[in-house]
Amino acid sequence: MEAKTVAESRTTMTEVVLPNDTSAYGMILGGKVMHLIDMAGAVAAYRHCRNPVVTVSVDSVRFLNSIRVGQLVLLEAFVTRAFTTSMEVEVHVHSEDPLTGKQIKTSDAFLTFVAIDKDGRPTAIPPLRPETADEKRRYESAMERRTRRLAQKG
Ligand SMILES: CC(C)(COP(=O)(O)OP(=O)(O)OC[C@H]1O[C@@H](n2cnc3c(N)ncnc32)[C@H](O)[C@@H]1OP(=O)(O)O)[C@@H](O)C(=O)NCCC(=O)NCCS
Repeated sequence: MEAKTVAESRTTMTEVVLPNDTSAYGMILGGKVMHLIDMAGAVAAYRHCRNPVVTVSVDSVRFLNSIRVGQLVLLEAFVTRAFTTSMEVEVHVHSEDPLTGKQIKTSDAFLTFVAIDKDGRPTAIPPLRPETADEKRRYESAMERRTRRLAQKG
C-alpha cells in the first residue's frame, strides 16, 4: 500500500458555540468538545485510509481554557502514525473571538481509530510518511503512546 503524508489527512473544522451547547454559565460543555474532537479525528482518519473507521480509544484529552457562547471553536486533526490496522490522530482545539480574531488554545487530545471491513473486522491501512522535523518527532513519540495505551487495555 502506498504511504500517505500527514498533509493528506490534515482536517480543519469551525463551529459556532450555540446556547444549546453550553452550561448554565455560558461555557461550552466538555462533552460537546469531545464530540467535536471525535468528529474531526474521524475525518482525518478517513482521509488517511479512505475506509470506514471506528474510534477504539481516546486518551490525554486536556481542557486548558473555556469557550464562551458566541465564540468560534476551531479544530485541527491529523494522523501522527499509522500502524497495521490502527492509526493515532492528534487533535488541537482553539477558541476564536469573532469580533477580535484572538485565538486561544483550549484542548488537545490523542485518539486511535481502526479501519474496518464490511464485516466490522480490522483491515490494513496505508503507512504514514512523515516529512517535516515536527511530523517525524510526533511519529516517533506515537510509538511510546501506543505501547502505554495497549498496556493499559487489560
Ligand atoms: C475496534 C475493533 C474493531 C477492534 O477489534 P479487535 O478484535 O480488538 O481487534 P484487534 O485486537 O486486532 O485490534 C485492532 C487494532 O486496534 C488496536 N487497538 C485495540 N484496542 C486498542 C486500544 N484500546 N487502544 C489503542 N489501540 C487499540 C490494536 O493494537 C490493533 O492495531 P494494529 O492492527 O494497528 O496493530 C473492536 O474493538 C470494535 O469494534 N470496537 C468498538 C468500536 C466502536 O464502536 N467505536 C465507537 C464508539 S463506541
